[in-house]
Amino acid sequence: MHVLAIETSCDETAAAVVEGAGRRRESGVGNVAVRVLSSVVASQADLHARTAGVVPEVAARAHVEAITFVIDDALRAAGLAPTSHQLPAPSFLDAVAAATEPGLRPALVVGETAARALALAWEKPFLPVNHLAGHIAAAWLVSRGQGALGLGHGDGLPNQPVVEHRFPAVALVVSGGHTQLWKLEERRRKQEERAGLFALRLLGQTRDDAAGEAFDKIARLLGLPYPGGAALATLAERGDACEFSFPRPMADSGDLDFSFSGLKTAVYYALREIKEQSEKLKADVAASAQEAIVDVLVRKTVQAAAQEDAAEVILTGGVAANARLRTRLSEALGSRPLVVPHPQYCTDNAAMIGAAAVLGLTIPNASPGTPGR
Ligand code: KG4
Ligand code: ZN
Repeated sequence: MHVLAIETSCDETAAAVVEGAGRRRESGVGNVAVRVLSSVVASQADLHARTAGVVPEVAARAHVEAITFVIDDALRAAGLAPTSHQLPAPSFLDAVAAATEPGLRPALVVGETAARALALAWEKPFLPVNHLAGHIAAAWLVSRGQGALGLGHGDGLPNQPVVEHRFPAVALVVSGGHTQLWKLEERRRKQEERAGLFALRLLGQTRDDAAGEAFDKIARLLGLPYPGGAALATLAERGDACEFSFPRPMADSGDLDFSFSGLKTAVYYALREIKEQSEKLKADVAASAQEAIVDVLVRKTVQAAAQEDAAEVILTGGVAANARLRTRLSEALGSRPLVVPHPQYCTDNAAMIGAAAVLGLTIPNASPGTPGR
């Protein structure tokens, strides 16, 4: 199955062409993989740095300007003819997918409308995809020359090894908008035909700010430019995480929910007390705040993995690009395998939307939108 996928839920305009690959076991999923034939991401980060955050209307307008070029680039990079010269569907495309929720409504409709228009013109089905299902499906992406066939790589796309996933799995999705723990179970073949390869169940989530939002807001308090998460992580490398003891909200709550808004407030008050804010002091604050966020994420994920007897843990979403989180979680899980997509596929991209479409991954109780043309 070949899918053109589009992602415009926040501030990245993205398009990708993916292909289903790999073998299935009779009893379950086996080493199914989704190969990335192309993945193009146009970031609006510079645009939103001016307002230190995303203004939905501004993001939507920027998506409108970029979307046709991004789709064109993705089709060309996948070896298909540009749409502007050849409206009939590239013969091997089976469907057009787009992220339809959750996200900034004015931004989402740009991608969905573009995908529906192409599906209509090409007489292919339109597949609505939940953005969070996309973040989880990123763990199934492999690069062009790879895939379940296990042939080398060399196409310039990130080298993603083929993973034989184990179930039940627990997935921590940590992004700018979400912090959630999910349980994944594989479906038997008969069930899967109707409902997709895996069943998802929400185990816990943040009650206020998302982890990425906490990174971004604390980065802003330290004077770092939007979106701040990666910059805060870089600053933290030069700091001492023991200098400040920030709270670990809900770390011992017993459930699998999170809360990060109190941490941001604690950093605000700590900074207010200090008159001379040297670079060293800022680095110490960054390291200490990062450690508090990572601490809670690691503790809850380990708790979820033990509770669900997980055979594997998946770490995904923009904050999964954080090196400290990857290292700490991997250490804390011990022999339990940790699967983390390449950083390029952890932050928003369209290949993950294509992967969710290929895997038929849906979020329970979410209205995924209407399939069609
Ligand atoms: O998944 P994503 O690209 O977009 C959303 O769906 O929200 O996640 C973006 C978030 C931002 O909050 C950004 O600051 C954070 O991921 N992020 C990081 C790092 N790289 C991106 N946070 C901590 N450390 C990083 N290295
Ligand atoms: Zn995202």
